[in-house]
Amino acid sequence: MRHLMNPLDFSVQELDRLFDLANDIENNMPKYAHACAGKKLATCFYEPSTRTRLSFEAAMLNLGGSVLGFSDANSSSAAKGESVSDTIRIISCYADICAMRHPKEGAPMVAAEKSRIPVINAGDGGHQHPTQTLTDLLTIRSLRGRLDHLTIGLCGDLKFGRTVHSLINALSRYEGMRFIFISPDELRIPDYITEMLRDKQIPYEEVIRLEEKMPELDILYMTRVQKERFFNEEDYIRLKDFYILNKKKLRKAPENMLILHPLPRVNEISVDVDDDPRAVYFKQAQYGVYVRMALILTLLNIQV
Ligand code: CP
Repeated sequence: MRHLMNPLDFSVQELDRLFDLANDIENNMPKYAHACAGKKLATCFYEPSTRTRLSFEAAMLNLGGSVLGFSDANSSSAAKGESVSDTIRIISCYADICAMRHPKEGAPMVAAEKSRIPVINAGDGGHQHPTQTLTDLLTIRSLRGRLDHLTIGLCGDLKFGRTVHSLINALSRYEGMRFIFISPDELRIPDYITEMLRDKQIPYEEVIRLEEKMPELDILYMTRVQKERFFNEEDYIRLKDFYILNKKKLRKAPENMLILHPLPRVNEISVDVDDDPRAVYFKQAQYGVYVRMALILTLLNIQV
């Protein structure tokens, strides 16, 4: 039995197979319509979500399976003090696979240790969000044709953004990558990530101004300032609109640059960018369904 806690849990070759499967699903949906008949997915979400929870549920329903779960810790027995370890023992009696989001870093890992079913980390605090990373990688691979020799700019809240941390880890395994970190000082990328890049001799730069590096980017990955991780409301208010990508700023961007965002968006991308052909963040959310379908089939060992 396998869990998914971190995007690095899968080798690059395993990811290639997963993405091939996701692309086959995209092009041949009816072939997979009954692949998970009789199987149940539990979504245990101790933190709010739209995309991750609903795309997991859509994925299982598309595969002919069923879903159960909770979308709020307060509507589960966590509100009465039940531990994650006990909860997963119970969920193991009711479902075949579980996707868990939790505000505490490492909580899905604690669950996996006691689980009798595969557990998928659907986001743990400011730590990792592996299925968002699978979504991001599939989007880049499908729309750009490769995952190597790319310059990727990551912009916004690089301190608390778990999607950013997971994505850098995953992309650092591909050849010829170059990272540009664009953030205010207060939201800089954590040192453990820049140390990892230095150890692997992967080039990176840290800058404050987005426009400065725009012409060099193959991918621009925008992120929201993570209000829920701030200790101080004043700091959030000061930083929340630090970056607003609009049509004017995009004039300096290459014609074939892709703009990704894990969403939800707040103000960091102006809606006037949405109809730019480079803006692929809504397509990205659609890829999230295909890759989660592929992941469910892989972890349940179902061949179609
Ligand atoms: N991208 C993402 O994790 O969105 P949700 O918080 O809506 O699941």
